[in-house]
Amino acid sequence: MRTMTCIEDLRQTARRKVPRAFFEYAEAGAYAEETLRANRADLERIKLRQRILVNVASRSTKTAILGEPASLPLALAPVGLCGMQHGDGEILACRAAQQAGIPFCLSTMSICSIEDVAQSVDKPFWFQLYVMKDRGFARSLIERAAAAKCSALVLTVDLQVLGQRHRDIKNGMTVPPELRIKNLIDIATKPAWALSVLRGKRKTFGNIAGHISGMQNVNSLAQWISGQFDPALSWKDVEWIAGLWPGKLILKGILDVEDARIAAKTGAAALVVSNHGGRQLDGAPSSISALPPIVDALGADIEIMFDGGIRSGQDLFRALALGARACLSGRAYIYGLGAGGQAGVARAIEIIRNELDVTMALTGVSRIDEIDRHVIAAM
Ligand SMILES: Cc1cc2nc3c(=O)[nH]c(=O)nc-3n(C[C@H](O)[C@H](O)[C@H](O)COP(=O)(O)O)c2cc1C
Repeated sequence: MRTMTCIEDLRQTARRKVPRAFFEYAEAGAYAEETLRANRADLERIKLRQRILVNVASRSTKTAILGEPASLPLALAPVGLCGMQHGDGEILACRAAQQAGIPFCLSTMSICSIEDVAQSVDKPFWFQLYVMKDRGFARSLIERAAAAKCSALVLTVDLQVLGQRHRDIKNGMTVPPELRIKNLIDIATKPAWALSVLRGKRKTFGNIAGHISGMQNVNSLAQWISGQFDPALSWKDVEWIAGLWPGKLILKGILDVEDARIAAKTGAAALVVSNHGGRQLDGAPSSISALPPIVDALGADIEIMFDGGIRSGQDLFRALALGARACLSGRAYIYGLGAGGQAGVARAIEIIRNELDVTMALTGVSRIDEIDRHVIAAM
């Protein structure tokens, strides 16, 4: 892993090791991928002020996320089918995050279940909830997350209907999945991946399989899921969930100031400014361009987190400079997972940490709470 010096190295390695359908599932954005590209382009446009001869000998990347100490203002974002990038992917990523001292968030659409992960790690993790039409099932997921002592519930609010990813359809990553000869040949050329997935605890949606009656196989399960995203979801449901969940609630997927204002009144502990990594509304603004107005309007009322396009410690620094208290990483750690399992995720976190630390030094900053808009260069 030492020769992996940046997230792009992990990405290239993951591309070689992970079957194409799953690698491209992680890479892709919705439709023409305009928003996916804008997430990166708008981050890269932000230039940093180089400062010199400031004593930065005692720097620290330590911070608090939702009041809990964290070694870095970063959490691993919920990613569906994580266990298809590497067998037991959710457990391995959670272990890497916990060893690095940052939160891990498990997706509803994970391969390993809430219980699988809870049994395999020492500390609490976050659980991300998609509210299904079957509200009884949503309630049971909340209860299972509480029983597993999850330390926060991340309610994703930007997926009432699914944005289309062309590459998934072309690769047969549809729901239900298509087993095409092309895919089978591809898998045959990725033996290490195949072995890790074969050895993994599960091969299907772990949080759902066995919890819905009549769902015997992957196809019926996938069909059930695709019919379960709920276009009727509303702020009333957020109230209902806030009433059921005993711990901290995070609302993920907010891009508009008006929505952020309503979110701040729900009693949620935090919101995540996010466009789902460019996977939902194509044509939506980049996450980073949506961040400052939300921080200006509500930064004093609610903890504001950010995700979308973070591929380096410099990017993390940019988002902190624009007011995010912490960031979530999706693809950056997924590339690490595909490239090298737990060690790959650990390396992704280490790369981002080291880059953040050096960026702090070269901008004359020693502490995370000193990073604000003054570190951005006037253009
Ligand atoms: C492959 C993939 C699967 C995802 N699955 C979920 C999910 O199940 N739930 C969710 O809330 N967000 C999901 N997301 C969105 C991420 O949580 C996060 O918002 C996004 O990845 C951030 O952008 P980045 O990948 O550029 O860091 C997914 C993202 C990717 C790339």
